Amino acid sequence: MIHDIQQQILRLKKEKDVCILAHSYQAREIIEIADFTGDSFGLSVKAKEVPQSTVIICGVRFMAETVKILSPNKKVLLANPTAGCPMAEQMDKELIGAVRKQYPDYTVVAYINTTAELKTICDVCVTSSSAVKIVRNLPNKDILFIPDCNLGDYVAKQAPEKNLKLLQGGCPIHARVSDFDVQKARLEHPNAEILVHPECTPDVVALADFVGSTSEIMEYAKNSYNSEFVIGTEISIVQHLSYSCPEKRFYSLSKNLICPNMKATSLMDVYHTLSGNGGEEIDLDSKTLKKARVCIDRMIELG
Ligand code: 13P
Ligand code: SF4
Repeated sequence: MIHDIQQQILRLKKEKDVCILAHSYQAREIIEIADFTGDSFGLSVKAKEVPQSTVIICGVRFMAETVKILSPNKKVLLANPTAGCPMAEQMDKELIGAVRKQYPDYTVVAYINTTAELKTICDVCVTSSSAVKIVRNLPNKDILFIPDCNLGDYVAKQAPEKNLKLLQGGCPIHARVSDFDVQKARLEHPNAEILVHPECTPDVVALADFVGSTSEIMEYAKNSYNSEFVIGTEISIVQHLSYSCPEKRFYSLSKNLICPNMKATSLMDVYHTLSGNGGEEIDLDSKTLKKARVCIDRMIELG
């Protein structure tokens, strides 16, 4: 059944000349039919390069908005319109506009997990894989980092020469993991390396062996000589790594590491989007497209 739908998707995608981009947190059956998979940064750069004029995003809304901002002439479809990122919706333009007034000399650095509207008043975007490099490359010492205070704390420690002001925000899924989970994993899997996403709390990050974006975690595990790993990010990464490295063992740092928004997209959503009976076309007004693009272009330039 899954195989039949996948075959129909592959046929339709070819017939209609559509590109499918899937974030690494997507389910296995979606990863298998995607043209490209990767982390937030990889997908946004890829979307700009692909020749197709229609792109389907299997991920969450901010990712589809980012693709639209970078490729305004392309038709960008979000396969499941209900898939949002709670972190991206935690802070709005009004709140950050008011904070900016309090810190007029600060450079506002926005994690890519923000709405297109909020990006219009930020100076530069970052992703988990580019945040440290970009913050270090900024000429200003004073940085207002939004919305993820865990990623912000990680960046502040990697770039001690900078003065980072953080606000209380972050990923509710990664926040579910505690230092207790890390200690438990060390006891249960004493030979495993613990790899975590910087959206985890500082306590968890401090105890990990490696910290990186979804793609960086996958690359690290694939290239490491070690054969056991505990993965501190969305549980799908455990599944994908188990497929690509069958000789290695992967365990999840917590059974709570499941993002319902990333899991919202099904194979049928992709099929209906391709058939013209589903998905949502991302539509952003020209002012938002133009202003939000400035901070995404700066991200690509500095990262
Ligand atoms: P990446 O930048 O690692 O793809 O992370 C995106 C995300 O939503 C993590 O929760
Ligand atoms: Fe958003 Fe967290 Fe889900 Fe990533 S894992 S999409 S940051 S809620």
